[in-house]
Amino acid sequence: MAASRRSQIDPFHVMEVMRAAEERVMAGGEVLHLEVGQPSTPAPAAAIEAAKQALDAERLGYTPAKGIPRLRERIARRYADRHGVEVSPDHVIVTVGASGGFSLAFLSAFDVGDRVAVSAPGYPCYRNVLEAFGIEAVVIPVDASTRFNLTPALLAEHGPLDGVLVASPANPTGTILTPRELEALVGHCSAHGIRVIADEIYHGITFTDQPVQSLLEHDRSGIVLQSFSKYWSMTGWRVGWVVAPDDLVQPMERLKQNLFISAPTIGQVAALAALDADEELEANVARYAANRPVVLGGLAAMGCTTVAPADGAFYAYADISHLGRTASSLCETWLDDLGVAVTPGIDFDPLHGEDFIRISFSESTEDVTEAMRRLVGWVGDR
Ligand SMILES: Cc1ncc(COP(=O)(O)O)c(C=O)c1O
Repeated sequence: MAASRRSQIDPFHVMEVMRAAEERVMAGGEVLHLEVGQPSTPAPAAAIEAAKQALDAERLGYTPAKGIPRLRERIARRYADRHGVEVSPDHVIVTVGASGGFSLAFLSAFDVGDRVAVSAPGYPCYRNVLEAFGIEAVVIPVDASTRFNLTPALLAEHGPLDGVLVASPANPTGTILTPRELEALVGHCSAHGIRVIADEIYHGITFTDQPVQSLLEHDRSGIVLQSFSKYWSMTGWRVGWVVAPDDLVQPMERLKQNLFISAPTIGQVAALAALDADEELEANVARYAANRPVVLGGLAAMGCTTVAPADGAFYAYADISHLGRTASSLCETWLDDLGVAVTPGIDFDPLHGEDFIRISFSESTEDVTEAMRRLVGWVGDR
């Protein structure tokens, strides 16, 4: 007997870097974390309090498959408040993180053999999950010439397509699509029958004045993925949501019932409270904003001339090819010799990833500053 062909997907390498860092800590070593793709803070205080109360007072059984109705109503209201678009709570499906939304979106919108475009660099699980489902991930290389964005011209070169994944702000580049760029992409896709899936997980974490639009401001036939993991600082609570278009609400509900039954109840209770914790969460964003110039300044001092925009999310994606080593071997050396964990670009870009590193600046300013000091010093002493 053999494992299925569909399970022969790439690992999520950053998890391996995290494991190596963890092993070093277990062996008594110290690690400064520039590899982790998660906030260094806990969930907002109000979310923790709500969870504690629910533990004492509630049965915490399954919820309806689409999620706790009050949570879905509150999420729908957020689109009216923030983006000026009406969303029916009926179209909001609470998921097991954005990752749980991938399964609902990909299985409801695509058939085996369909072709869905993803950018390289891009978040690796898009292509790995698509492939596990028998959907062809059409990997489109992007670079600094388009600010690492997909464009209508790039999509046209790789057509015909059934779908495209866009992320704004994106992981690992931090690129934000301008309203005009988003509109142009949506225009191309609706003219060619391409379903747009927008991963909006880094909404709320931005460092420029430019507006960050939701796909819903341009397109009601696409799918929006969101999560409480990043802005709300709740990675381990495993709650996110999907905003489904008319034709996919029922297919997604059926998939949700069968694949997951419901998202974690305790997480949903906490998430509802977290939606009113903006003041606390903005302090996290202020910390990322303070860390960003430390990282960008450090990369400049390391001689990195190609660095993706880092306008949102909490990552800097930088070309390190001038250092004459692969990213994997540099990251190994930095962990062993400096106690600094960094992610090699191979996760995000199967083609050019060994020329890039991703630095996460979600940790404390003190740790980020010290980690960058060590990296800059290492390059200087080389
Ligand atoms: C772009 C992007 N989408 C989705 C996810 C998955 O997040 P979740 O914890 O909501 O499953 C991540 C996690 O790093 C991410 O960076």
